[in-house]
Amino acid sequence: MFRTPFVGGGMISKETVQLIKEKADIVQVISQYVSLQKSGSGYKGLCPFHSEKTPSFHVNPVLKFYHCFGCGASGDVIKFVQEIEHLSFRDAVMRLARQVGIDIPISTVRSDFTVYTAYLSRVHAKYISQLNKSKEATAYLKARGFTNQQIDNFELGYCPERSTIAVEMAREMTLPLRKAASFGLIKQTNGKYVDRFSNRIIIPIRNDSENLVAFGARTLGHEEPKYLNSPETRYFSKGSMLFLFHIAKKVAKKLDFIVLTEGYFDALAFHRAGVTNAVAILGTALTPEHIAKIASSTKNVILCFDSDDAGERATIRALELLVKQGLNVAIANLTEDDPDSLYQKRGPSSLKESLKAALQYEKYIVSVVSRKHDLSVSAGVEEFLVALKPWAQLLLSQRRFERYNRFIESVSATTNLSAAQIDEFFRSRKLRTISKVEHHKRHLPSGEEYLVYLYLTHEDMRNEIHNVDKSLFSERSRLFFEKMRESRDQIDALDEELKVWALKILEAIPPGDPVKILNDVKKQLQRKSLERRISEIDLEFTSTEDSTRKMKLLSERQKIARLLDKLGGGTGAK
Ligand code: UTP
Ligand code: MN
Repeated sequence: MFRTPFVGGGMISKETVQLIKEKADIVQVISQYVSLQKSGSGYKGLCPFHSEKTPSFHVNPVLKFYHCFGCGASGDVIKFVQEIEHLSFRDAVMRLARQVGIDIPISTVRSDFTVYTAYLSRVHAKYISQLNKSKEATAYLKARGFTNQQIDNFELGYCPERSTIAVEMAREMTLPLRKAASFGLIKQTNGKYVDRFSNRIIIPIRNDSENLVAFGARTLGHEEPKYLNSPETRYFSKGSMLFLFHIAKKVAKKLDFIVLTEGYFDALAFHRAGVTNAVAILGTALTPEHIAKIASSTKNVILCFDSDDAGERATIRALELLVKQGLNVAIANLTEDDPDSLYQKRGPSSLKESLKAALQYEKYIVSVVSRKHDLSVSAGVEEFLVALKPWAQLLLSQRRFERYNRFIESVSATTNLSAAQIDEFFRSRKLRTISKVEHHKRHLPSGEEYLVYLYLTHEDMRNEIHNVDKSLFSERSRLFFEKMRESRDQIDALDEELKVWALKILEAIPPGDPVKILNDVKKQLQRKSLERRISEIDLEFTSTEDSTRKMKLLSERQKIARLLDKLGGGTGAK
Protein backbone atom coordinates (compact mmCIF):
# COMPACT_ATOMS: atom_id res chain seq x y z
CA MET A 1 0.00 0.00 0.00
CA PHE A 2 1.59 3.23 -1.11
CA ARG A 3 0.26 6.47 0.27
CA THR A 4 0.58 9.61 -1.79
CA PRO A 5 2.26 12.31 0.23
CA PHE A 6 0.21 14.86 2.06
CA VAL A 7 0.83 18.03 0.12
CA GLY A 8 -0.08 20.77 2.48
CA GLY A 9 0.38 23.95 0.51
CA GLY A 10 2.72 26.86 0.99
CA MET A 11 4.25 28.83 3.77
CA ILE A 12 2.33 30.77 6.37
CA SER A 13 3.55 34.33 6.73
CA LYS A 14 5.20 35.57 9.92
CA GLU A 15 2.55 38.23 10.26
CA THR A 16 -0.23 35.67 10.19
CA VAL A 17 1.54 33.57 12.80
CA GLN A 18 1.92 36.65 15.00
CA LEU A 19 -1.75 37.53 14.58
CA ILE A 20 -2.82 34.04 15.57
CA LYS A 21 -0.60 34.13 18.64
CA GLU A 22 -2.19 37.40 19.68
CA LYS A 23 -5.73 36.25 19.07
CA ALA A 24 -5.52 32.80 20.58
CA ASP A 25 -6.17 32.86 24.31
CA ILE A 26 -3.45 30.60 25.67
CA VAL A 27 -5.34 29.97 28.91
CA GLN A 28 -8.43 28.91 27.04
CA VAL A 29 -6.50 26.72 24.61
CA ILE A 30 -4.57 24.95 27.37
CA SER A 31 -7.74 24.58 29.46
CA GLN A 32 -9.00 22.18 26.83
CA TYR A 33 -6.31 19.76 28.00
CA VAL A 34 -5.39 20.78 31.53
CA SER A 35 -7.58 21.77 34.44
CA LEU A 36 -6.17 25.15 35.49
CA GLN A 37 -6.54 27.02 38.75
CA LYS A 38 -5.82 30.67 39.36
CA SER A 39 -2.35 31.35 40.75
CA GLY A 40 -1.31 34.97 41.19
CA SER A 41 -1.95 36.69 37.90
CA GLY A 42 -1.66 33.39 36.07
CA TYR A 43 -2.83 29.82 36.28
CA LYS A 44 -1.41 26.47 37.22
CA GLY A 45 -2.30 22.82 36.87
CA LEU A 46 -0.92 19.32 36.53
CA CYS A 47 1.64 19.15 33.74
CA PRO A 48 0.38 17.26 30.68
CA PHE A 49 3.95 16.47 29.63
CA HIS A 50 5.07 14.55 32.68
CA SER A 51 3.35 12.75 35.49
CA GLU A 52 2.97 14.64 38.75
CA LYS A 53 0.72 14.95 41.77
CA THR A 54 1.22 18.60 42.68
CA PRO A 55 0.81 21.22 39.97
CA SER A 56 4.02 22.73 38.62
CA PHE A 57 2.70 23.59 35.17
CA HIS A 58 2.10 27.35 34.89
CA VAL A 59 0.32 29.33 32.23
CA ASN A 60 0.48 33.07 32.03
CA PRO A 61 -1.90 35.05 29.81
CA VAL A 62 0.17 38.23 30.02
CA LEU A 63 3.35 36.57 28.86
CA LYS A 64 1.34 34.28 26.56
CA PHE A 65 3.62 31.57 27.82
CA TYR A 66 3.54 28.25 29.67
CA HIS A 67 6.25 26.67 31.75
CA CYS A 68 6.53 23.53 33.83
CA PHE A 69 8.89 23.79 36.77
CA GLY A 70 8.90 20.01 37.00
CA CYS A 71 9.99 18.90 33.55
CA GLY A 72 11.03 22.19 31.99
CA ALA A 73 8.51 22.14 29.15
CA SER A 74 7.72 25.66 28.02
CA GLY A 75 6.70 27.78 25.10
CA ASP A 76 3.92 29.72 23.47
CA VAL A 77 0.45 28.65 22.44
CA ILE A 78 1.62 27.21 19.12
CA LYS A 79 4.32 25.10 20.73
CA PHE A 80 1.74 23.80 23.19
CA VAL A 81 -0.62 22.64 20.46
CA GLN A 82 2.30 21.15 18.55
CA GLU A 83 3.50 19.14 21.52
CA ILE A 84 0.18 18.01 22.89
CA GLU A 85 -1.25 17.03 19.53
CA HIS A 86 2.02 15.90 17.94
CA LEU A 87 1.61 18.30 15.07
CA SER A 88 4.11 20.08 12.89
CA PHE A 89 4.45 23.82 13.44
CA ARG A 90 2.44 24.40 10.31
CA ASP A 91 -0.39 22.07 11.29
CA ALA A 92 -0.56 23.57 14.78
CA VAL A 93 -0.84 27.05 13.31
CA MET A 94 -3.58 25.89 10.93
CA ARG A 95 -5.53 24.36 13.78
CA LEU A 96 -5.29 27.50 15.93
CA ALA A 97 -6.21 29.65 12.96
CA ARG A 98 -9.43 27.69 12.57
CA GLN A 99 -10.15 28.07 16.29
CA VAL A 100 -9.72 31.84 16.32
CA GLY A 101 -11.38 32.34 12.95
CA ILE A 102 -8.46 33.53 10.85
CA ASP A 103 -8.30 32.68 7.16
CA ILE A 104 -4.85 31.61 6.12
CA PRO A 105 -3.89 32.83 2.69
CA ILE A 106 -2.03 29.91 1.23
CA SER A 107 0.59 31.15 -1.14
CA THR A 108 0.99 29.34 -4.41
CA VAL A 109 4.70 28.81 -3.85
CA ARG A 110 5.53 25.23 -2.87
CA SER A 111 7.19 25.23 0.52
CA ASP A 112 10.56 23.66 0.98
CA PHE A 113 8.98 20.98 3.16
CA THR A 114 6.42 20.10 0.51
CA VAL A 115 9.16 19.62 -2.05
CA TYR A 116 11.16 17.58 0.45
CA THR A 117 8.39 15.10 1.27
CA ALA A 118 7.18 14.95 -2.32
CA TYR A 119 10.69 14.09 -3.49
CA LEU A 120 11.20 11.46 -0.80
CA SER A 121 7.78 9.94 -1.54
CA ARG A 122 8.41 9.65 -5.25
CA VAL A 123 11.80 8.06 -4.73
CA HIS A 124 10.21 5.80 -2.14
CA ALA A 125 7.62 4.61 -4.68
CA LYS A 126 10.45 3.63 -7.04
CA TYR A 127 12.31 1.78 -4.30
CA ILE A 128 9.11 -0.12 -3.46
CA SER A 129 8.78 -1.31 -7.03
CA GLN A 130 12.48 -2.24 -7.09
CA LEU A 131 11.93 -4.62 -4.19
CA ASN A 132 9.61 -6.81 -6.27
CA LYS A 133 12.22 -6.97 -9.00
CA SER A 134 15.06 -8.07 -6.74
CA LYS A 135 15.10 -11.75 -5.84
CA GLU A 136 17.91 -11.19 -3.40
CA ALA A 137 16.18 -8.40 -1.50
CA THR A 138 12.87 -10.24 -1.36
CA ALA A 139 14.65 -13.36 -0.17
CA TYR A 140 16.31 -11.36 2.57
CA LEU A 141 12.97 -10.16 3.98
CA LYS A 142 11.41 -13.61 3.57
CA ALA A 143 14.29 -15.05 5.57
CA ARG A 144 13.43 -12.60 8.32
CA GLY A 145 9.90 -13.96 8.27
CA PHE A 146 8.14 -11.14 6.46
CA THR A 147 4.99 -11.98 4.51
CA ASN A 148 4.09 -10.07 1.34
CA GLN A 149 1.30 -8.43 3.25
CA GLN A 150 3.74 -7.21 5.92
CA ILE A 151 6.17 -5.92 3.31
CA ASP A 152 3.31 -3.94 1.77
CA ASN A 153 2.04 -2.67 5.09
CA PHE A 154 5.35 -1.28 6.17
CA GLU A 155 6.07 0.03 2.67
CA LEU A 156 9.50 -1.58 2.60
CA GLY A 157 11.60 -1.00 -0.48
CA TYR A 158 14.95 -1.75 -2.04
CA CYS A 159 17.61 0.50 -3.48
CA PRO A 160 19.63 -1.47 -6.08
CA GLU A 161 23.40 -1.45 -6.22
CA ARG A 162 24.86 1.69 -7.88
CA SER A 163 21.31 3.00 -8.28
CA THR A 164 20.70 6.46 -9.69
CA ILE A 165 16.95 6.38 -9.13
CA ALA A 166 17.05 9.30 -6.68
CA VAL A 167 19.31 11.29 -9.01
CA GLU A 168 16.95 10.80 -11.94
CA MET A 169 13.94 11.68 -9.83
CA ALA A 170 15.58 14.95 -8.82
CA ARG A 171 16.11 15.77 -12.50
CA GLU A 172 12.54 14.84 -13.30
CA MET A 173 11.26 17.13 -10.57
CA THR A 174 13.68 19.90 -11.62
CA LEU A 175 15.21 19.75 -8.20
CA PRO A 176 18.83 20.99 -8.22
CA LEU A 177 21.14 18.08 -7.42
CA ARG A 178 22.81 20.02 -4.67
CA LYS A 179 19.42 20.49 -3.08
CA ALA A 180 18.60 16.79 -3.47
CA ALA A 181 21.93 16.00 -1.84
CA SER A 182 20.99 18.18 1.11
CA PHE A 183 17.81 16.09 1.39
CA GLY A 184 20.11 13.11 1.97
CA LEU A 185 19.12 10.68 -0.77
CA ILE A 186 22.05 11.18 -3.11
CA LYS A 187 25.76 11.73 -2.67
CA GLN A 188 28.71 12.66 -4.81
CA THR A 189 31.30 10.00 -5.62
CA ASN A 190 34.20 10.83 -7.95
CA GLY A 191 32.37 13.95 -9.07
CA LYS A 192 29.24 12.02 -9.99
CA TYR A 193 25.94 11.86 -8.14
CA VAL A 194 24.62 8.43 -7.12
CA ASP A 195 22.01 7.19 -4.65
CA ARG A 196 23.20 7.10 -1.07
CA PHE A 197 21.68 3.74 -0.12
CA SER A 198 23.20 1.37 -2.64
CA ASN A 199 22.09 -2.28 -2.34
CA ARG A 200 20.01 -1.88 0.82
CA ILE A 201 16.52 -2.58 2.12
CA ILE A 202 14.69 0.73 2.47
CA ILE A 203 12.60 1.47 5.56
CA PRO A 204 10.44 4.60 5.39
CA ILE A 205 10.49 6.89 8.41
CA ARG A 206 7.44 9.09 8.88
CA ASN A 207 6.97 12.00 11.24
CA ASP A 208 4.02 12.39 13.60
CA SER A 209 1.85 13.84 10.84
CA GLU A 210 2.66 10.81 8.68
CA ASN A 211 4.84 12.76 6.27
CA LEU A 212 7.74 10.80 4.90
CA VAL A 213 10.87 12.51 6.25
CA ALA A 214 13.70 9.97 6.09
CA PHE A 215 14.86 6.47 5.25
CA GLY A 216 16.62 3.79 7.19
CA ALA A 217 18.56 1.40 4.98
CA ARG A 218 19.90 -2.03 5.91
CA THR A 219 22.51 -4.07 4.11
CA LEU A 220 21.48 -7.48 2.81
CA GLY A 221 24.66 -9.02 4.13
CA HIS A 222 27.29 -8.25 6.69
CA GLU A 223 28.80 -5.07 5.27
CA GLU A 224 29.44 -2.18 7.61
CA PRO A 225 27.71 -0.09 8.57
CA LYS A 226 24.74 -2.39 9.00
CA TYR A 227 22.35 0.55 8.75
CA LEU A 228 22.63 3.78 6.89
CA ASN A 229 20.08 6.45 7.74
CA SER A 230 19.11 9.69 6.12
CA PRO A 231 21.32 12.42 7.53
CA GLU A 232 19.87 15.01 9.89
CA THR A 233 17.90 17.53 7.88
CA ARG A 234 15.60 20.40 8.78
CA TYR A 235 12.79 17.88 8.88
CA PHE A 236 14.47 14.86 10.38
CA SER A 237 16.32 14.70 13.64
CA LYS A 238 17.09 11.38 15.30
CA GLY A 239 17.08 13.02 18.71
CA SER A 240 13.40 13.76 18.45
CA MET A 241 12.24 10.98 16.15
CA LEU A 242 10.61 7.78 17.32
CA PHE A 243 10.17 5.22 14.56
CA LEU A 244 6.47 4.28 14.05
CA PHE A 245 5.26 6.83 16.60
CA HIS A 246 2.73 8.14 14.06
CA ILE A 247 0.92 4.83 14.43
CA ALA A 248 1.81 4.04 18.03
CA LYS A 249 0.73 7.35 19.57
CA LYS A 250 -2.99 6.71 19.15
CA VAL A 251 -2.80 3.14 20.39
CA ALA A 252 -0.54 4.11 23.29
CA LYS A 253 -3.04 6.71 24.39
CA LYS A 254 -5.86 4.20 24.30
CA LEU A 255 -4.03 1.33 26.00
CA ASP A 256 -2.14 3.75 28.25
CA PHE A 257 1.29 2.27 27.67
CA ILE A 258 3.97 2.31 25.03
CA VAL A 259 6.67 -0.21 24.10
CA LEU A 260 10.10 1.29 23.52
CA THR A 261 12.66 -0.70 21.50
CA GLU A 262 16.15 -0.09 20.10
CA GLY A 263 15.85 -1.08 16.47
CA TYR A 264 13.76 -0.76 13.34
CA PHE A 265 13.13 -4.47 13.11
CA ASP A 266 12.31 -4.70 16.81
CA ALA A 267 9.52 -2.16 16.55
CA LEU A 268 8.40 -3.84 13.33
CA ALA A 269 8.31 -7.23 15.09
CA PHE A 270 5.90 -5.88 17.68
CA HIS A 271 3.67 -4.36 15.02
CA ARG A 272 3.73 -7.64 13.10
CA ALA A 273 2.63 -9.35 16.32
CA GLY A 274 -0.28 -6.92 16.62
CA VAL A 275 1.32 -4.79 19.32
CA THR A 276 1.03 -1.51 17.45
CA ASN A 277 1.91 0.77 20.36
CA ALA A 278 5.62 0.01 19.87
CA VAL A 279 8.28 2.47 18.71
CA ALA A 280 12.06 2.48 18.27
CA ILE A 281 14.79 5.01 18.86
CA LEU A 282 17.11 5.20 15.89
CA GLY A 283 20.59 4.26 17.04
CA THR A 284 20.85 7.16 19.49
CA ALA A 285 20.47 7.44 23.22
CA LEU A 286 17.04 8.34 24.53
CA THR A 287 16.64 12.13 24.73
CA PRO A 288 14.36 14.43 26.75
CA GLU A 289 12.60 15.21 23.48
CA HIS A 290 11.79 11.55 22.96
CA ILE A 291 10.46 11.41 26.49
CA ALA A 292 8.29 14.49 26.10
CA LYS A 293 6.80 12.89 23.02
CA ILE A 294 6.09 9.64 24.83
CA ALA A 295 4.71 11.41 27.90
CA SER A 296 2.14 13.24 25.84
CA SER A 297 0.46 9.99 24.92
CA THR A 298 1.08 7.89 28.03
CA LYS A 299 3.06 7.85 31.27
CA ASN A 300 3.66 4.10 31.19
CA VAL A 301 6.60 2.67 29.29
CA ILE A 302 7.71 -0.89 28.75
CA LEU A 303 11.38 -0.89 27.83
CA CYS A 304 12.37 -3.63 25.44
CA PHE A 305 16.00 -3.00 24.57
CA ASP A 306 18.44 -5.71 23.51
CA SER A 307 19.32 -8.20 26.21
CA ASP A 308 23.11 -7.98 25.79
CA ASP A 309 25.40 -5.88 28.03
CA ALA A 310 25.14 -2.83 25.81
CA GLY A 311 21.36 -3.12 25.87
CA GLU A 312 21.40 -3.41 29.64
CA ARG A 313 23.52 -0.27 29.97
CA ALA A 314 21.20 1.55 27.58
CA THR A 315 18.23 0.36 29.63
CA ILE A 316 19.69 1.78 32.85
CA ARG A 317 20.50 5.10 31.17
CA ALA A 318 17.01 5.33 29.69
CA LEU A 319 15.50 4.41 33.06
CA GLU A 320 17.32 7.23 34.79
CA LEU A 321 15.87 9.77 32.40
CA LEU A 322 12.38 8.29 32.27
CA VAL A 323 12.04 7.96 36.02
CA LYS A 324 13.35 11.47 36.61
CA GLN A 325 10.63 12.72 34.29
CA GLY A 326 8.08 10.93 36.43
CA LEU A 327 7.21 8.08 34.07
CA ASN A 328 6.33 4.57 35.17
CA VAL A 329 8.63 2.04 33.61
CA ALA A 330 8.69 -1.72 33.41
CA ILE A 331 11.33 -3.82 31.65
CA ALA A 332 10.19 -6.54 29.27
CA ASN A 333 11.35 -10.06 29.98
CA LEU A 334 13.21 -10.91 26.77
CA THR A 335 14.30 -14.50 26.42
CA GLU A 336 16.20 -13.85 23.18
CA ASP A 337 18.70 -11.20 22.03
CA ASP A 338 16.11 -8.72 20.85
CA PRO A 339 12.37 -8.55 20.05
CA ASP A 340 12.99 -9.30 16.39
CA SER A 341 14.81 -12.57 17.09
CA LEU A 342 12.17 -13.45 19.67
CA TYR A 343 9.52 -13.03 16.97
CA GLN A 344 11.49 -15.08 14.49
CA LYS A 345 12.37 -17.91 16.86
CA ARG A 346 9.25 -18.15 19.01
CA GLY A 347 6.49 -16.44 17.13
CA PRO A 348 4.29 -13.41 17.70
CA SER A 349 2.70 -14.56 20.95
CA SER A 350 6.10 -14.70 22.66
CA LEU A 351 6.39 -10.93 22.25
CA LYS A 352 3.14 -10.42 24.13
CA GLU A 353 4.39 -12.82 26.80
CA SER A 354 7.55 -10.79 27.22
CA LEU A 355 5.42 -7.74 27.97
CA LYS A 356 3.16 -9.56 30.39
CA ALA A 357 6.18 -10.76 32.31
CA ALA A 358 7.72 -7.28 32.44
CA LEU A 359 9.49 -6.34 35.67
CA GLN A 360 8.75 -3.05 37.46
CA TYR A 361 11.85 -0.88 37.26
CA GLU A 362 12.47 -0.70 41.01
CA LYS A 363 12.90 -4.46 41.03
CA TYR A 364 14.85 -4.53 37.78
CA ILE A 365 17.46 -2.11 39.12
CA VAL A 366 18.00 -4.18 42.24
CA SER A 367 18.49 -7.30 40.18
CA VAL A 368 20.87 -5.71 37.64
CA VAL A 369 22.99 -3.95 40.27
CA SER A 370 23.12 -7.03 42.51
CA ARG A 371 24.86 -8.99 39.74
CA LYS A 372 27.73 -6.48 39.79
CA HIS A 373 28.62 -6.99 43.44
CA ASP A 374 29.75 -9.89 45.55
CA LEU A 375 26.97 -10.07 48.08
CA SER A 376 28.60 -12.87 50.03
CA VAL A 377 30.98 -10.42 51.70
CA SER A 378 29.95 -7.40 53.74
CA ALA A 379 32.10 -4.96 51.70
CA GLY A 380 30.23 -6.11 48.59
CA VAL A 381 26.90 -5.55 50.25
CA GLU A 382 27.95 -2.07 51.30
CA GLU A 383 29.02 -1.21 47.72
CA PHE A 384 25.75 -2.60 46.45
CA LEU A 385 23.76 -0.35 48.79
CA VAL A 386 25.86 2.70 47.91
CA ALA A 387 25.21 2.06 44.22
CA LEU A 388 21.47 1.86 44.86
CA LYS A 389 21.30 4.94 47.04
CA PRO A 390 20.75 7.49 44.25
CA TRP A 391 17.79 5.43 43.04
CA ALA A 392 16.35 5.25 46.54
CA GLN A 393 16.69 8.98 46.94
CA LEU A 394 15.13 9.63 43.59
CA LEU A 395 12.11 7.56 44.63
CA LEU A 396 11.96 9.37 47.96
CA SER A 397 12.29 12.83 46.47
CA GLN A 398 9.47 12.03 44.08
CA ARG A 399 7.38 10.67 46.95
CA ARG A 400 6.85 7.39 45.16
CA PHE A 401 6.61 5.59 48.47
CA GLU A 402 4.85 2.52 47.21
CA ARG A 403 7.63 1.91 44.74
CA TYR A 404 10.22 2.83 47.33
CA ASN A 405 8.81 0.22 49.68
CA ARG A 406 8.88 -2.44 46.99
CA PHE A 407 12.42 -1.32 46.22
CA ILE A 408 13.67 -1.85 49.78
CA GLU A 409 11.71 -5.08 50.01
CA SER A 410 13.62 -6.50 47.08
CA VAL A 411 16.94 -5.13 48.37
CA SER A 412 16.12 -6.81 51.64
CA ALA A 413 15.38 -10.10 49.90
CA THR A 414 18.72 -9.91 48.06
CA THR A 415 20.88 -9.01 51.06
CA ASN A 416 19.26 -10.57 54.12
CA LEU A 417 19.26 -7.12 55.77
CA SER A 418 15.98 -5.97 57.24
CA ALA A 419 13.87 -3.44 55.34
CA ALA A 420 14.22 -1.06 58.30
CA GLN A 421 18.02 -1.20 58.19
CA ILE A 422 18.05 -0.54 54.48
CA ASP A 423 15.58 2.28 54.81
CA GLU A 424 17.77 3.90 57.46
CA PHE A 425 20.84 3.61 55.25
CA PHE A 426 19.07 5.11 52.23
CA ARG A 427 17.69 8.03 54.17
CA SER A 428 20.94 8.83 56.00
CA ARG A 429 23.42 11.64 55.28
CA LYS A 430 23.01 14.39 52.70
CA LEU A 431 23.98 13.33 49.17
CA ARG A 432 20.45 14.07 48.04
CA THR A 433 19.51 14.43 44.46
CA ILE A 434 18.00 17.86 44.14
CA SER A 435 14.67 17.70 42.44
CA LYS A 436 14.13 20.43 39.91
CA VAL A 437 11.08 21.64 41.73
CA GLU A 438 13.19 23.02 44.53
CA HIS A 439 14.42 25.84 42.30
CA HIS A 440 10.95 27.27 42.44
CA LYS A 441 11.14 28.60 45.99
CA ARG A 442 9.08 31.55 47.07
CA HIS A 443 10.77 34.68 48.30
CA LEU A 444 9.50 38.15 49.09
CA PRO A 445 9.27 40.21 45.93
CA SER A 446 11.63 43.16 45.70
CA GLY A 447 10.83 46.65 44.46
CA GLU A 448 12.12 45.94 41.01
CA GLU A 449 10.02 42.81 40.80
CA TYR A 450 6.97 44.89 41.64
CA LEU A 451 7.88 47.15 38.74
CA VAL A 452 8.10 44.18 36.40
CA TYR A 453 4.72 43.06 37.65
CA LEU A 454 3.16 46.50 37.11
CA TYR A 455 4.80 46.84 33.76
CA LEU A 456 3.31 43.59 32.53
CA THR A 457 -0.13 43.99 34.03
CA HIS A 458 -0.76 47.72 33.51
CA GLU A 459 -0.08 48.93 30.02
CA ASP A 460 -1.04 52.49 30.95
CA MET A 461 1.86 52.65 33.38
CA ARG A 462 4.54 51.46 30.99
CA ASN A 463 5.79 54.89 30.00
CA GLU A 464 6.13 55.98 33.55
CA ILE A 465 7.93 52.78 34.45
CA HIS A 466 10.35 53.17 31.56
CA ASN A 467 11.30 56.52 33.07
CA VAL A 468 12.15 55.16 36.50
CA ASP A 469 15.90 55.16 37.19
CA LYS A 470 16.99 51.54 37.07
CA SER A 471 20.66 51.96 37.88
CA LEU A 472 20.22 50.11 41.15
CA PHE A 473 18.40 47.18 39.61
CA SER A 474 19.73 43.71 39.17
CA GLU A 475 21.17 42.87 35.79
CA ARG A 476 18.22 40.67 34.97
CA SER A 477 15.58 43.34 35.50
CA ARG A 478 17.68 45.86 33.62
CA LEU A 479 17.89 43.41 30.72
CA PHE A 480 14.15 42.89 30.89
CA PHE A 481 13.35 46.59 30.67
CA GLU A 482 15.97 47.15 27.99
CA LYS A 483 14.45 44.43 25.79
CA MET A 484 10.99 45.84 26.32
CA ARG A 485 12.09 49.33 25.42
CA GLU A 486 14.01 48.21 22.35
CA SER A 487 11.19 46.05 21.04
CA ARG A 488 8.44 48.52 21.95
CA ASP A 489 6.95 46.22 24.50
CA GLN A 490 6.92 42.99 22.47
CA ILE A 491 6.79 40.14 24.98
CA ASP A 492 8.29 37.85 22.35
CA ALA A 493 11.52 39.83 22.52
CA LEU A 494 12.21 38.05 25.80
CA ASP A 495 14.13 34.83 25.72
CA GLU A 496 12.79 31.80 27.50
CA GLU A 497 14.80 32.36 30.66
CA LEU A 498 13.48 35.88 31.08
CA LYS A 499 9.96 34.67 30.45
CA VAL A 500 10.25 32.03 33.15
CA TRP A 501 11.62 34.66 35.53
CA ALA A 502 8.79 37.08 34.73
CA LEU A 503 6.25 34.31 35.13
CA LYS A 504 7.48 33.60 38.65
CA ILE A 505 7.15 37.27 39.52
CA LEU A 506 3.66 37.51 38.10
CA GLU A 507 2.58 34.59 40.23
CA ALA A 508 4.31 35.67 43.43
CA ILE A 509 2.68 39.09 43.62
CA PRO A 510 -0.92 39.34 44.75
CA PRO A 511 -2.91 41.97 42.86
CA GLY A 512 -2.95 45.36 44.59
CA ASP A 513 -3.59 49.05 43.93
CA PRO A 514 -1.17 49.80 41.05
CA VAL A 515 -0.79 53.49 41.83
CA LYS A 516 0.05 52.81 45.42
CA ILE A 517 2.49 50.07 44.44
CA LEU A 518 4.26 52.35 41.98
CA ASN A 519 4.56 55.09 44.58
CA ASP A 520 5.86 52.64 47.13
CA VAL A 521 8.44 51.33 44.70
CA LYS A 522 9.54 54.81 43.78
CA LYS A 523 9.85 55.69 47.45
CA GLN A 524 11.83 52.53 48.02
CA LEU A 525 14.16 53.31 45.14
CA GLN A 526 14.65 56.82 46.44
CA ARG A 527 15.41 55.34 49.80
CA LYS A 528 17.94 52.98 48.34
CA SER A 529 19.75 55.70 46.48
CA LEU A 530 19.80 57.96 49.54
CA GLU A 531 21.17 55.12 51.60
CA ARG A 532 23.81 54.56 49.03
CA ARG A 533 24.75 58.23 49.16
CA ILE A 534 25.09 57.94 52.93
CA SER A 535 27.54 55.09 52.67
CA GLU A 536 29.53 57.07 50.10
CA ILE A 537 29.60 60.03 52.51
CA ASP A 538 30.70 57.80 55.36
CA LEU A 539 33.47 56.37 53.30
CA GLU A 540 34.73 59.77 52.19
CA PHE A 541 34.41 61.12 55.74
CA THR A 542 36.83 58.58 57.15
CA SER A 543 39.29 59.00 54.32
CA THR A 544 39.50 62.80 54.06
CA GLU A 545 41.64 65.11 56.24
CA ASP A 546 40.07 68.29 54.90
CA SER A 547 37.96 69.69 57.76
CA THR A 548 35.77 71.99 55.64
CA ARG A 549 35.01 69.04 53.41
CA LYS A 550 34.16 67.04 56.53
CA MET A 551 31.71 69.74 57.68
CA LYS A 552 30.06 69.74 54.27
CA LEU A 553 29.73 65.98 54.30
CA LEU A 554 28.21 66.03 57.76
CA SER A 555 25.58 68.54 56.81
CA GLU A 556 24.68 66.65 53.67
CA ARG A 557 24.41 63.49 55.73
CA GLN A 558 22.01 65.18 58.15
CA LYS A 559 19.86 66.41 55.31
CA ILE A 560 19.65 62.96 53.83
CA ALA A 561 18.86 61.42 57.19
CA ARG A 562 15.93 63.81 57.55
CA LEU A 563 14.71 62.94 54.08
CA LEU A 564 14.92 59.28 54.91
CA ASP A 565 12.91 59.88 58.08
CA LYS A 566 10.27 61.65 56.06
CA LEU A 567 10.10 58.84 53.53
CA GLY A 568 9.50 56.51 56.45
CA GLY A 569 9.56 52.72 56.36
CA GLY A 570 6.51 50.56 55.81
CA THR A 571 6.51 50.57 52.05
CA GLY A 572 4.50 47.78 50.51
CA ALA A 573 7.51 46.77 48.50
CA LYS A 574 10.33 45.42 50.59
P1 UTP B 1 21.39 -3.15 16.38
O1 UTP B 1 22.84 -3.26 16.10
O2 UTP B 1 20.84 -3.70 17.65
O3 UTP B 1 20.66 -3.73 15.14
O4 UTP B 1 21.04 -1.61 16.26
P2 UTP B 1 19.31 -4.56 15.01
O5 UTP B 1 18.15 -3.64 15.17
O6 UTP B 1 19.33 -5.78 15.87
O7 UTP B 1 19.44 -4.90 13.48
P3 UTP B 1 19.15 -6.26 12.74
O8 UTP B 1 18.08 -6.98 13.49
O9 UTP B 1 20.43 -7.01 12.68
O10 UTP B 1 18.72 -5.82 11.38
C1 UTP B 1 19.85 -1.05 16.75
C2 UTP B 1 19.47 0.15 15.93
O11 UTP B 1 20.54 1.08 15.89
C3 UTP B 1 20.59 1.73 14.64
C4 UTP B 1 19.41 1.21 13.86
O12 UTP B 1 18.31 2.07 14.07
C5 UTP B 1 19.19 -0.14 14.48
O13 UTP B 1 17.87 -0.62 14.28
N1 UTP B 1 21.84 1.46 13.92
C6 UTP B 1 22.52 0.31 14.11
C7 UTP B 1 22.30 2.38 13.02
O14 UTP B 1 21.69 3.44 12.84
N2 UTP B 1 23.45 2.11 12.32
C8 UTP B 1 24.13 0.96 12.48
O15 UTP B 1 25.15 0.76 11.80
C9 UTP B 1 23.67 0.04 13.40
MN1 MN C 1 18.04 -7.40 15.60
